[in-house]
Amino acid sequence: TEHKIAIAIDGPAAAGKSTVAKIVAHKLGYIYIDTGAMYRALTSKALEYRLDLDDEKQLAELLDKTEITLEQGETGQRVYLDGIDTTWEIRTEEVTNNVSKIAKYPLIREEMVKRQQKFAEKRGVVMDGRDIGTRVIPDAEVKIFLIATVEERARRRHEENLLKGFESDLEKLQEEIALRDKQDMERETSPLVKAPDAVEIDTTSCTIHQVAESILAECSKALERSGSRQD
Ligand code: CDP
Ligand code: CDP
Repeated sequence: TEHKIAIAIDGPAAAGKSTVAKIVAHKLGYIYIDTGAMYRALTSKALEYRLDLDDEKQLAELLDKTEITLEQGETGQRVYLDGIDTTWEIRTEEVTNNVSKIAKYPLIREEMVKRQQKFAEKRGVVMDGRDIGTRVIPDAEVKIFLIATVEERARRRHEENLLKGFESDLEKLQEEIALRDKQDMERETSPLVKAPDAVEIDTTSCTIHQVAESILAECSKALERSGSRQD
């Protein structure tokens, strides 16, 4: 029988997590789970409902009534919020700049982690986020922590925006990324931190292909290890 593993990819904003996670998942024939999209989806709904973002209890109640589904479509991952395709809506500047406020709440994280752990039950999953290796799948066979300088990460997001057809202010983008990282690193519940057993990869001067190859090499090693343990 084929042996499947779980791959956890964490790191700060725009380090390249989702891009390489998708490549790795595709190569291995695994599912890809973008946990950031789940926090973004809840944030976009809370903004739409004009909820008080300081009210943890109300936000947790909203999450209980919210269905978030991730689907791998032909054109990439699609995110559905209560059955409606919100793939684009969850990437707005307003959502991006508010998501870390909501993601800091223990009640929200507890429920999100529960949902995410269900996806990893049968292994065969590549999951990216901030707390995958530390909290969601602490026993993942492969743990990767991707980093890059904040200048490079801002430059990447800027390029990405240009490709999508809109001009962004590079300096402002860098400030926003730095602030989000700070909020994610300084929160009390499951902060953004490298798991002690994670492999750190500095992608600042790497191509996407190089990063994907390094991760796939870690996966091969882990698959060999878990295969021989089974025999
Ligand atoms: O793609 P980008 O790096 O901009 O962000 P994302 O992965 O979509 O995550 C958006 C936000 O969700 C992060 O800044 C965190 O505040 C939160 N998040 C989290 O707290 N835990 C996760 N496992 C994933 C995301
Ligand atoms: O998921 P996360 O926020 O960590 O980053 P991403 O959305 O996967 O990547 C941000 C941008 O950096 C994308 O436009 C990638 O094409 C680009 N990039 C990369 O991911 N890795 C490199 N080594 C170089 C560029």
